[in-house]
Order: sequence, then structure tokens, then C-alpha cells
Amino acid sequence: MKFITVDSYESLSKKAANIIAAQVIAKPNCVLGLATGSSPVGTYKKLAEYCSAGDIDFTEVTSVNLDEYVGLDGSNDQSYRYFMNENLFKKINIDIEKTHVPNGCAKDPKAEGERYDALIESLGGIDLQLLGIGLDGHIGFNEPEDKFTKETHAVKLDESTIEANARFFESIDDVPREAITMGMGAIMNAKKVLLIANGKNKKEILEKAFFGPITPFVPASILQLHPDLTVIYSEN
Ligand code: F6R
Repeated sequence: MKFITVDSYESLSKKAANIIAAQVIAKPNCVLGLATGSSPVGTYKKLAEYCSAGDIDFTEVTSVNLDEYVGLDGSNDQSYRYFMNENLFKKINIDIEKTHVPNGCAKDPKAEGERYDALIESLGGIDLQLLGIGLDGHIGFNEPEDKFTKETHAVKLDESTIEANARFFESIDDVPREAITMGMGAIMNAKKVLLIANGKNKKEILEKAFFGPITPFVPASILQLHPDLTVIYSEN
């Protein structure tokens, strides 16, 4: 594991964007696993800048996002599909047909999970997976529990996750209680994993996840077993 500490969110975003840009340059038709939330916003901004400057080309790239809230469709401005369109896809030259987010409105979440895993497999797996980390150690929406779940699946969000995500909604009551998330199988099978985190409030969970025991009660701790993991952290 490479654990890189930087002194600003700007520097974190630049480093993360450079790692993703290097992946796209090395393999133009790569599969990028992408995340939402506040952590990757700066990274996506940099990638959009590089693309506008002609330094990277996303036309052959395919993307698969980690998760989506249950019950929100892509036209809902709180959905992760909407977030991705606004923060990245509209700003780069990716083919929108090659961008994938789990369907939060699927009638049968189990079948949706199977469809999503089959899709990832048909793409040959993920070349580079970008992750954030929740205050409870979740990655994607794999919340702490007594086992690691391999498949893409529906989950009930933890109270701490609902509270943390309330900042994006008008009121805490508007935060969806369920999500569909990629499981640990697709994440651990990614050839490279890049986890970014910023803020003093993430320090404790990073210590637990990357320097403590591997346990499903700290879901991100499984990444200690990944052969090509980079973590970038800025306290600011
Ligand atoms: C988002 C996701 C989540 C976030 C995590 C951190 O797609 O999968 O695991 O990465 O909740 O969120 P932020 O970056 O908002 O602190």
C-alpha cells in the first residue's frame, strides 16, 4: 500500500487526477470505477481541465459507478447519476452510453445487482477504482456488518451515513434510507485502487482501516489485502 499525505485538498485532487489521467493515457479503452460524494469533486474538476486542454481523451473509456440511492432516477438532482453527469460526464468527451451507474429504480434490486456484476465482468473488470471512505469505514455503500458481501447488492444505510449525507439534502428526512452498491468482489478485483480522503474527521477511520485489523466492521480494511492500493489523504 502507498499511503500519501498531502497538505491541501487541491494537491490531493491534482495527484488523484494525475493517477487517473496516467491510466487513461496508458490504456485509452480502460474501465474506470468511479465514486460520488464530496471527496472526488476536485479530482473531477482537474480531469475536466486536462480533457479541455486536450491532454486526455475519454472517448474510448467506459465507467462504472459504485452506487446509487434506491428510489432516485437519473433526473433527480440528488441521484448519483445526476451528480456524475454534472460533475464529470458533461465536462469531458466520454460517450455517455459507456457510463454506467446502478439503477436505483430497478423493481428487483437482486436482479439489478446480478445485471451490474455481469456487466462489469463482460467489460473485463475494472482497471482503476476510485474510492472515498465513509466515517464508519464504508466503501461504496458497503456498511459495517459481520461479513464482507461480494456481489452488487441493496443495503440499508447506517444512521451515521444518513447523517453525513444530509448535508446534500434539504432535510435529513429526505435522505434515502437504502442504496444499491457494488460489492467487495468487483472492488477487490480492480487492478488498481485509489482511495482519497480529506478532513481531520477522516483521520481516525483511516487509521483503523489501513493500520488496524482487517474486519467487516471496518469495511475499507479489506483493501489492505489489495496488491495495488494507493491512499491519498489531506487533513485540510
Ligand atoms: C460514493 C460512495 C461513498 C463515499 C463516502 C465518502 O459513491 O461510494 O462511499 O465515497 O461516503 O463520501 P465523501 O467523499 O462525501 O466524504
